[in-house]
Amino acid sequence: MNKRKVIPEILNRKSSVCFSDKPVSSEEINLLIEAAKWAPSSRNMQPWKVIFVSKKDDSYSDVLASLSDSNQVWAKNAEIFAIFAIFDDKNINKKFLDIGFCGQNMMLQAEYLGIATHPMGGWSEDLVKKAIGIPEKNHVVFVLALGKKGVAEELEPELKIREEKERMRGDNKDNFNFSNWDFN
Ligand SMILES: Cc1cc2nc3c(=O)[nH]c(=O)nc-3n(C[C@H](O)[C@H](O)[C@H](O)COP(=O)(O)O)c2cc1C
Repeated sequence: MNKRKVIPEILNRKSSVCFSDKPVSSEEINLLIEAAKWAPSSRNMQPWKVIFVSKKDDSYSDVLASLSDSNQVWAKNAEIFAIFAIFDDKNINKKFLDIGFCGQNMMLQAEYLGIATHPMGGWSEDLVKKAIGIPEKNHVVFVLALGKKGVAEELEPELKIREEKERMRGDNKDNFNFSNWDFN
C-alpha cells in the first residue's frame, strides 16, 4: 500500500523552550547552513544574512539582553542564536518572504538532527544590531534560538508546562479553500 504521510520533521518541529547543555557540533551547524541555503528566493537573490552567536561568543550576553524579558526567561538556555537579517534596499517584501523560507528550511533540518528551535520576533532592533555590529541599512527579521533538545522533566515548572502544551492549529476551512475564495 502506498502510505503517504506528512514529513515527520514538519509535524514534530515546535517552538521549544527545552534545550540541553550538549553542544551543537560544527558539522551540525554546517548542515543547518546547507539546508537553509537551498531555500527558494525571488530571482534566486538569496538575500539572507544569518549570523550564528554561541554561548562561547562575547556577544551572546548582549544578544540575550536584546530579547524581550519574556523571551529571555527561556532563551537563556539556548546555546545558539541565529540572527536572520536582510539588506534594506528594494523588494523588501519579497526579501522578508525569502528569509522566512530560509529559516523554515533551517528549522526542519534542525528537527531532523535533534536540535530544538524557537523563532522570535520579540527583541529590540537597536540592541540586537548593536550586539553583533549589524550596519544600520539592514533589517533584523527574526532571531532563532537553537540548542540540542533537552529533557522537559528537568525544566522549571512553568517552562515544563509550556514545553508540554499541545500544539494547536485552526480548522483547515479557515485557511484553505478550493476553486474560490469562500472564507467567512
Ligand atoms: C515571526 C515569528 C515571531 C515569533 N516570535 C516569538 C516570540 O517573540 N516569542 C515566542 O515565545 N515565540 C515566538 N514565536 C513562536 C510562535 O509563537 C509559534 O510559532 C506559534 O505559537 C506556533 O507554535 P509552534 O511553532 O510550536 O508550532 C514566533 C514565531 C514566528 C514565526
